[in-house]
Amino acid sequence: MVMKDYYSLSEASEILGKSKETLRRWDNSGKFSAAREPISNYRIYKKDEIESLLELFPVDINDSIDNFVVPLQEYKVLELFAGAGGLAIGLEKSGIKCAALNEIDKWACQTLRENRPNWNVLEGDIKTFDFTNYRDKVEVVTGGFPCQAFSYAGKKLGLEDARGTLFYEFARAVKEVQPLICIGENVKGLRSHEKGKTLEGMISILDEIGYNVVPVQVLKAINYRVPQKRERLILVGVRKDIDIKYEYPNPHEKIYNLVDALKKGELFDSNVPKSEGSKYPEHKKEILDMIPPKGYWRDLPLELQKSYMGKSFYLGGGKTGMARRIGWDEPSLTLTCSPAQKQTERCHPDETRPFTVREYARIQTFPDNWKFIGSVSQQYKQIGNAVPCNLGEEIGYSVIKFLNQYYSKSNKSEDSISLANAI
Ligand SMILES: C[S@@+](CC[C@H](N)C(=O)[O-])C[C@H]1O[C@@H](n2cnc3c(N)ncnc32)[C@H](O)[C@@H]1O
Repeated sequence: MVMKDYYSLSEASEILGKSKETLRRWDNSGKFSAAREPISNYRIYKKDEIESLLELFPVDINDSIDNFVVPLQEYKVLELFAGAGGLAIGLEKSGIKCAALNEIDKWACQTLRENRPNWNVLEGDIKTFDFTNYRDKVEVVTGGFPCQAFSYAGKKLGLEDARGTLFYEFARAVKEVQPLICIGENVKGLRSHEKGKTLEGMISILDEIGYNVVPVQVLKAINYRVPQKRERLILVGVRKDIDIKYEYPNPHEKIYNLVDALKKGELFDSNVPKSEGSKYPEHKKEILDMIPPKGYWRDLPLELQKSYMGKSFYLGGGKTGMARRIGWDEPSLTLTCSPAQKQTERCHPDETRPFTVREYARIQTFPDNWKFIGSVSQQYKQIGNAVPCNLGEEIGYSVIKFLNQYYSKSNKSEDSISLANAI
């Protein structure tokens, strides 16, 4: 390759191993700005800037996966069970506008309003809202409904049988709004809840209200630019009159680690800001002081293993999440709603303490400027409950791809109808 002072977009794309679309996006977002060729106004890249980017992200250039896609028109979502906005931020980053968000928790609602004063936050119990006025106003309905058992009498479950559950409320909203696509999000355990009957019931209810459910998948956040081993079950329903196949976002090849969450690098352009955080009680601190990075309770002397683990010691199973210290060179284990919670300790690699609020937020890929309102424990809860923003963004691209295909197809058939009428 001839070395010169500037490279074209295609050349930069080849050198960096990133698609042209990614480079355009990086330019638009300011992540990696291009200069402009004065006559053609095409993007050009300075040689030394390309070289410094290669030094900064040597591994990333191997990641050839890019789910980015530009929406053909404005798409809107009604986001239910919105929490502190993890999924909503991700969808917004992908280019989908939030028409409204429902959430019952007053602190989470304050978080949403503080950060996005223009978002329409519907505060209160979902049961008290009628969503019919969002019909024809949004293309997408999303929601991470808390999982509850249905009372099941062996028959095929219908919408009315699910009354009283939060899934019922999700399905009711979908029925009222009739979006082109709906996305439910839940814990991986939903697959095996009540031996799979709960999920089966949800699929049959969505079928009854006019939605075909795409084969359910559990997405691993580590495959979607999230430095955390979190997994989320995704339930996608496509309105039955639509003949477009929904495809899950492609998993990335690059896996990010704790160092990428907390230090300046590819995911964040600065080290994690200082913030409040909770502490371990003295006894737990003494135990965790003995654990090396990437280690867990098995690294304790045998007597301490027995006394710390109590009955769990004899129960078998790895329990590798207990008394765990995360290493810099691995993704974090799944964050929970409370960082000092028994049996799910995720200790900082160098200091014997839980992650701070801002470290928690980084591991969930929330931007540093996203403020959380409420006490420290309320903030941890909002963050621990969230869909990681980067996973939400990748899901967003998959939805945009689906909607783009739908509108290009329906515009084409409209064009052929008007052409036929004109002949
Ligand atoms: C798993 S969290 C959702 C997280 C969110 N999608 C995010 O990405 O940040 C579930 C949310 O449902 C909310 N919720 C529970 N019951 C509700 C109800 N009856 N009405 C509205 N929201 C409810 C909870 O307060 C919680 O914030």
